[in-house]
Amino acid sequence: MLLSAAALSLSLLFSLSSGVSASPEELVLGQSQPSALPPIKTPDLRDIEWGQINFISTTDTHGWLAGHLLQASFAADWGDYASFIEHAREIADEKGVDLIVVDDGDQHDGNGLSDATPVNGEVSQQILMMAPIDLMSIGNHELYKCEVTQQTYDLLAPHFDGRYLTSNVEIQLQNGSWVHIGQRSYRFTTKNQGINIMSFGFLFDFKLNCDNSRVSDVEQVVQQAWFQAAIREPGIDMFVVFGHFPIRFWPEMWAIHRAIRAVHKSIPIQYFGGHSHVRDFTVLDSRATALQAGRFLETVGWVSIDGIEPGASEDSPDYAKPLKYNRRYLDFNPHSLSYHVNKTIGENGTFGTPLGKKISKIIDDYRVELNLTYPFGCVPRDYLLEKAKYPGPNSLLSLLEENVLMNLAGEDEVRNEQPRLIFINSGSLRYDMYSGIFTIDSGYIVSPFDNKWKFIPSVPYPIAKKILARLNALDYIFMELTTPISRTMLVRQSNLGDTFDINVMNAFISASASDDLTHEDLKTTGYVTIDDFGMDGDDTPHKPYPIYYLPNAIATEDNYPADGSEPDSVDVIFLDFMKPFILNALLEIDPSTPTEEWSVLEYGGKSVKEMIKDYVRGWGTDCLNQ
Ligand SMILES: *[C@@H]1O[C@H](CO)[C@@H](O)[C@H](O)[C@H]1NC(C)=O
Ligand SMILES: *[C@@H]1O[C@H](CO)[C@@H](O)[C@H](O)[C@H]1NC(C)=O
Ligand SMILES: *[C@@H]1O[C@H](CO)[C@@H](O)[C@H](O)[C@H]1NC(C)=O
Ligand SMILES: *[C@@H]1O[C@H](CO)[C@@H](O)[C@H](O)[C@H]1NC(C)=O
Ligand SMILES: [Zn+2]
Ligand SMILES: [Zn+2]
Repeated sequence: MLLSAAALSLSLLFSLSSGVSASPEELVLGQSQPSALPPIKTPDLRDIEWGQINFISTTDTHGWLAGHLLQASFAADWGDYASFIEHAREIADEKGVDLIVVDDGDQHDGNGLSDATPVNGEVSQQILMMAPIDLMSIGNHELYKCEVTQQTYDLLAPHFDGRYLTSNVEIQLQNGSWVHIGQRSYRFTTKNQGINIMSFGFLFDFKLNCDNSRVSDVEQVVQQAWFQAAIREPGIDMFVVFGHFPIRFWPEMWAIHRAIRAVHKSIPIQYFGGHSHVRDFTVLDSRATALQAGRFLETVGWVSIDGIEPGASEDSPDYAKPLKYNRRYLDFNPHSLSYHVNKTIGENGTFGTPLGKKISKIIDDYRVELNLTYPFGCVPRDYLLEKAKYPGPNSLLSLLEENVLMNLAGEDEVRNEQPRLIFINSGSLRYDMYSGIFTIDSGYIVSPFDNKWKFIPSVPYPIAKKILARLNALDYIFMELTTPISRTMLVRQSNLGDTFDINVMNAFISASASDDLTHEDLKTTGYVTIDDFGMDGDDTPHKPYPIYYLPNAIATEDNYPADGSEPDSVDVIFLDFMKPFILNALLEIDPSTPTEEWSVLEYGGKSVKEMIKDYVRGWGTDCLNQ
């Protein structure tokens, strides 16, 4: 049983398994989620250009199939995406060109639709599979929990029937055998242009998986006999290498590229990556490029290629001429998506297909069924992560530091009254908190992690007061559940690519930012991506989001002496994830105390997510009545 029927009604289960026959009431719904903000309409979109072969891609969807209900720039949902794909396929057929739809994994952790079910993803993955995607790969978020990996093997791999590619990821079956979760490679010939493609789906060299899976290093796998044989198969016109690896700075993609180029000096290769949650496009050589389509369904990636000659010999003299590319990052906005396929949205719009509308309806129904719409309170203004200056009135970190963390109530009521210093890592927060209704879903979005609190009792204050600076001096830290990469690195990648230069960065920030960003500002700002082709990749010409450096960690002082004097000692309280970092900081501050001598105990108390919900309740739910 993939779905726990206890929690979900039969009619909804049925709607997932039945065919596409929308009822009249479903058709009235049109597109998107009924509770989404009206989509923002931006004029002068940059067009997509169709080529001989065209790719649409998503990555790191993390359960956001309902879209961004409080952000007008990203108001589309997974149903709209299905409609978009269906229309794009029609256009491709009319033009006699090919369209391939790719997803690069990370489909759990970050949204109620994926995370509120007893096994993460048991509903959201079935909805995800309803969109007509050609090629899919696995992400690290499919491997943290054994049951999620098992679900991927039981559900996604069979659905994609050979097109779910896990070239370096295996699962151990009940009988002890190790098998690839999907397939290692997939060879196919495109429908209209007859391009013969060999495809692979890789995951970066990930180590934190649950023990029913095994991830082999990309660098080793490309030397294995099966891979070496696959790239030497006769008759290949092009390679499509997609999966869950960043396309800049990280070594994995280049290891694959070197291995293929050692055999095929100039065969076309198209890469699709993910994981670092940025929009990016890199040029590997004149006949190989890579696209990465952001995160959380903010972005649909587009790349088209012209100049491929199916059947041509690599030895022919003019084979190696540069290919022509077009790349775009489409905002996940119904206006964008419908514009690019020349359809209309609105009451009598031509955009929503029966499949798309059906998916939208199912998402809406499940959000209610899973109680994701339950309102805690009305957030009065936007509280942001990198988009706001910290400390500051729009900073989510400041909100926690100044108003939320001191409400932590551990198990021991007496201890709760002791002078204490409460730490969280900024990576424990996943996404901005936008003005509007804060629901159960918002809790999963802002802080999806079920963290526990630990503490070290009575740390001498002269030592304790130095911990925060130590944590923030680290170059990287704590993206919980991901490989440590610094937020700064993300910022560099998202905006400045290889051309990173602190002066450019500063000019960029000062040109765009104000300390006190209003919600109106945010409607017109958006991604301005600098990639290897320049600054014109985003389909919507936005003003750039301001981007600030965030500290690795923040700390709230509580129960300090009222007279402003320093306490003798404080309880040092922190999220369980931070334990090695805190102990390391203590060792650096006080090398004479061995790490084992600091006793780390359970503090108890609610998770950050639950503490935020409690705080938001205080804002009331009046916005629901307006
Ligand atoms: C385990 O099960 C798989 C799939 O049913 C099968 O292919 C494999 O041979 C089995 N291994 C052993 C050791 O029985
Ligand atoms: C877009 O659709 C309209 C109405 O269906 C049609 O008249 C027009 O030719 C289409 N434009 C393109 C570029 O296909
Ligand atoms: C949609 O179509 C109906 C029926 O033809 C019409 O009454 C209505 O005005 C149309 N709405 C819009 C926004 O065009
Ligand atoms: C929805 O969640 C709220 C808050 O946790 C709870 O009070 C309510 O009973 C839940 N409703 C349902 C139908 O489960
Ligand atoms: Zn991700
Ligand atoms: Zn990832």
